[in-house]
Amino acid sequence: MSERVLVTEPIIPEVIEKLENQYQVDVGKSGTYDNEEALINDIPAYDALLPMLSNPISEDVITAGTNLKVIANHAVGYNNINVKAAIKEDIAVANTPGVLTDSCAEFTIGLMLAVSRRLFDAQEYLLDGKFENWEPLGFLGTELNGNTLGIIGMGRIGTGVARRAKALGMNICYHNRSRVSPEIEQELNASYCSSIKELASQSNFISLHCPLTDDTHHLIDHEILDVMNSNTILINTSRGPVVDEEALAHALHNKTIGGAGLDVFEDEPKLHPKLKTAPNCVLTPHIASASYQTRKDIGLLAADAIIGILEGKSHSEIPNLIQP
Ligand code: DGY
Repeated sequence: MSERVLVTEPIIPEVIEKLENQYQVDVGKSGTYDNEEALINDIPAYDALLPMLSNPISEDVITAGTNLKVIANHAVGYNNINVKAAIKEDIAVANTPGVLTDSCAEFTIGLMLAVSRRLFDAQEYLLDGKFENWEPLGFLGTELNGNTLGIIGMGRIGTGVARRAKALGMNICYHNRSRVSPEIEQELNASYCSSIKELASQSNFISLHCPLTDDTHHLIDHEILDVMNSNTILINTSRGPVVDEEALAHALHNKTIGGAGLDVFEDEPKLHPKLKTAPNCVLTPHIASASYQTRKDIGLLAADAIIGILEGKSHSEIPNLIQP
């Protein structure tokens, strides 16, 4: 009898086929495993789990997984998994670094342009039949060229965004737990800000690329929003709870900042009601990594970690395992 794998949502078929070549695979219906109860109920039957970022892999889920040997998240961020509890139970945990860098970096630039050039307001205006004559003062926006982008979290995706932004003529500053190498600072002509406040006060655009941890929860709060200038545009493609949405909605409605582009939300998939009506705010449903190629690569990388563990490879042979 082959080992059993639970993939919690339908994903790119080639990934499922790859797993099915070796294992008995069950694929959950969309949304079924977005709560702990369903996971606790079903997990005892499985040797491996391929969850989504929306599935809460809590300590209770992990202890219920008495046959579980590996959890391979379908995401680079793994704040949905209690890694400590998994490692205590000798369950390997993997994520998908690297394969979504380009997709997320491109999407971030897209959000910056969508907000700064008011693409969706303009489309609404057009579809509402309001475009009656060409207006020299209509939809005046802000260019990326010549403006400063402040990046919080200069890992793979943050660096990918910085490279693209520099190519578009932007100046780069960044904040990170530690400084990046002098070579990368030089390549990007990037200046380091030792505090978020310093970065917020000098940036026209701010883009968030840090993981969600206890330290980054509500990193962007009233105090930080207050030091931004009235044209600053905030972009979040990291995790929703990095931003205090109540404070952000207040700043947008009072026009103390220039706008926001948000792909992630504090209480996903719910939207803060005041964000729905906030001016100059572009909202997308957590799709920064959603290109076909990237979602396939994410799935294959997660599947490889499952195959590696179930085949008995040593942890050092599986590059995307999260180290304790
Ligand atoms: C991730 O991988 O963490 C993204 O947020 C989802 O693709």
